[in-house]
Amino acid sequence: MKRLAILGSTGSIGQSTLSIVEQFPDRYQVATLAAGRNVDEAFAQAVRWRPKLVSLSSEELAAQLCKRLNEAGISGTQVVYGSEGTVACSTHPEADFVVSAIVGVAGLEATHAAILAGKPVGLANKECMVAAGEILTAAARERNVPILPIDSEHNAVHQCMRVGDHKEVKFIWLTASGGPFRKTQLSEFAAITPEQALKHPTWVMGRRITIDSATMLNKGLEIIEACRLFNVPASQVRVTIHPQSTVHSLVEYVDGSILAQISMTDMRLPILYALAYPERPASNLTFDLAALRHLDFEEPDFERFPCLRLAYEAAERGGAHCIALNAADEVAVEAFLDRRIPFTEIAGTIGKVLASTPESHPATIAEVLASDREAREKAHALVA
Ligand SMILES: NC(=O)c1ccc[n+]([C@@H]2O[C@H](COP(=O)([O-])OP(=O)(O)OC[C@H]3O[C@@H](n4cnc5c(N)ncnc54)[C@H](OP(=O)(O)O)[C@@H]3O)[C@@H](O)[C@H]2O)c1
Repeated sequence: MKRLAILGSTGSIGQSTLSIVEQFPDRYQVATLAAGRNVDEAFAQAVRWRPKLVSLSSEELAAQLCKRLNEAGISGTQVVYGSEGTVACSTHPEADFVVSAIVGVAGLEATHAAILAGKPVGLANKECMVAAGEILTAAARERNVPILPIDSEHNAVHQCMRVGDHKEVKFIWLTASGGPFRKTQLSEFAAITPEQALKHPTWVMGRRITIDSATMLNKGLEIIEACRLFNVPASQVRVTIHPQSTVHSLVEYVDGSILAQISMTDMRLPILYALAYPERPASNLTFDLAALRHLDFEEPDFERFPCLRLAYEAAERGGAHCIALNAADEVAVEAFLDRRIPFTEIAGTIGKVLASTPESHPATIAEVLASDREAREKAHALVA
């Protein structure tokens, strides 16, 4: 029986993880849950799963949850809050496995603390790996702690890598759906609305990652994530546009063989893979090969999607540039969703913040967070 700490339990990945727990009660239990502001969902989850610990983002929200649990006669669940609360969830002695699915760098300290505490991590939170991948992977290597990717592309790469040797890998090919604007004329990009950008053609996800998919910055973050998770330079990570989102990624070996992973576009599969690794439990997530008609692959258009180019540049420079890429994007996406900047200024803001970021390689999580704050301040000033 694996007892899970689920960070970001009220989000899209968090809820999919809980549906896996529901489906495999003999394999998984909930130990702790960490969420942000959604008290209603956190209350419903606490009633259903009776975790030892629940964390919310503020003292006020934690007090509301405490009151509701008391009124409902639920005892045995302690409520905590803030980044210390999230860390308490990820390091709880009764948690054997941590699902890291908080959006943004808010999940970084708790993910790092989980690794330091020797807990295997199922990693959905790509921003953590982008901002502090060097620190996280070094800590994991030192303690022999597995970091199992939940992001579908990296999960696919992890699966394809199981059959070959690291030194035999020529390229990692990350597939990208191309988002909703794959065929939109460049001249129309400035007029794209948040409603249009929030309609992803193949995946249902949280708001930030959906906008990041529309700008393709999401793929950019994944390039950096792949470099860190699989210990390869950016020149070995390539992107191919695959509108069907059926092939989740591929690994090309030096002998010319290319291995691909194909499955339903359903995040429960990579989550189950990460939770059960190295086993493969039987599931009902079957893929109908007969229904497969087309597999298209195209070169990405760097002119239409400048975020991809910016991400390659940041990947080459590493350190503060990767942190700034992620931080500036988070601020710019928020500003776009609030209709303060046009769609095209997401890349514009990131580009300006990157250009003003000096070369540096933060060595601790505190330094990473300080560098993140600095980049955010610059981005806020730009979108104001
Ligand atoms: N969704 C996908 O299909 C998918 C695929 C691959 C990778 N990912 C990655 O997985 C992560 C989560 O994505 P998502 O789509 O599940 O996002 P989401 O639906 O927006 O959920 C985000 C979660 O983070 C929590 N959260 C936000 N700020 C927090 C804070 N300060 N402290 C504690 N918790 C906080 C939210 O809590 P509240 O809702 O309670 O505020 C929610 O539980 C992201 O890094 C994303 O890039 C997602």
